[in-house]
Amino acid sequence: MFSYSGNDFYCEQVPLADLARRVGTPAYVYSSQSILDNFRAYDEALSGLPHSVCYAVKANSSLAILSILAKAGAGFDIVSAGELYRVIQAGGDPSKVVFSGVGKSADEVEYALANGIHSFNCESESELELIDALARRRGVKAGFSIRVNPDVDAATHPYISTGLSEHKFGIDIREAADVYERSQRFLNLSAEGVSCHIGSQILDPSPLLVALQKLIAMAKDLCALGFPINHLDLGGGLGIAYHHGEKTPEIRSFIESMNASLKESGLAVIVEPGRSIVGAAGALLTRVLYRKRNGAKEFIVVDAGMNDLIRPSLYRAHHEVVPVRRNSLPLVMADVVGPICESGDFMARDRLMANAMPGDYLAVCTAGAYGFVLSSNYNSRTRAPEVLVEGDRWRIIRRRETFEDLVRGEST
Ligand code: LLP
Repeated sequence: MFSYSGNDFYCEQVPLADLARRVGTPAYVYSSQSILDNFRAYDEALSGLPHSVCYAVKANSSLAILSILAKAGAGFDIVSAGELYRVIQAGGDPSKVVFSGVGKSADEVEYALANGIHSFNCESESELELIDALARRRGVKAGFSIRVNPDVDAATHPYISTGLSEHKFGIDIREAADVYERSQRFLNLSAEGVSCHIGSQILDPSPLLVALQKLIAMAKDLCALGFPINHLDLGGGLGIAYHHGEKTPEIRSFIESMNASLKESGLAVIVEPGRSIVGAAGALLTRVLYRKRNGAKEFIVVDAGMNDLIRPSLYRAHHEVVPVRRNSLPLVMADVVGPICESGDFMARDRLMANAMPGDYLAVCTAGAYGFVLSSNYNSRTRAPEVLVEGDRWRIIRRRETFEDLVRGEST
């Protein structure tokens, strides 16, 4: 949905140079069509099975995006009460929400119970105990899955790999059966599923298939023991292309490779994709402020910093940086750096790229997931606006912050 027509870079039918001029920079821009296409790829590939595509809200929690997905029939995977609040504000259905996360507080569990969510993905026995006590007080029964840690290596960045026993996530798959057994004493809980999430930005889906087989085996054993298991939750994690031309698993074929096993299990399926729905649907627009050279190094100084997009700094993540309007100058080897007072503030390092000059706009691509949500006011910078493109139209779905926003809630 982001492509060149002539020398101009477009999101759907909107030329991004015009948009950047109108809304200013830095600014996030999203293609609604791309979000819908990705969601539908999951939804349609699973259409032969009872299923729910629970979009992982953490990837991009803007109300307009949640609303597009809610209207398309999505469920939601949340990791905080705040995310549930957003889902509800956006018109999402709480009965299609699964609540993940290793550290849910009592207040958050209360809020989720009050809103009648579908299921809790639980990560410890003490969490089960808490949910049971709060459900009893309310006179309801809460559905839960245990998030098992299947001890498979997702082979991704160490900060976003979660499925090994050395990680804080889940309950060791070898102990999970005993925990289900012991959960029978919790009369206000109902063991309805088995879940896992082994990591993010997974480019080789085979570890996900190994995890699936382990989950199915576990669910079968639990059903044989009389637990009312009715769903498998496979988590999210499918990777996307951050490098130009990179080969990545296709959503449909990935799901289809699991369909036979899923069908045979007779269980409903939940998936929790985040990045693969919104990642490639977004870009961060920025403007070149200055060019400078320090010794042998060439710098392109832009107006977006690590407070706007932290992925390059935090994970050394690669994002393509492309000109919003191509020029005919020879390419240059440069660092693209932001205005933040840290050497770690860069969008690209030692990159052979367009020779962008002050005043030119650049697009930092594939920034729709874990972009705006991880942005901050560091250096007292106002957070960027977000713009949603629909065909040849666009609208601001979050206005740029003001100085008043910066100090809201503070007192001297
Ligand atoms: N479900 C659970 C329980 C998760 O923890 C996550 C992501 C997802 C689903 C969605 O995974 P996805 O489909 O997006 O891979 N900030 C990092 C990514 C952190 C992912 C955390 N968990 C980044 O920018 O790469």
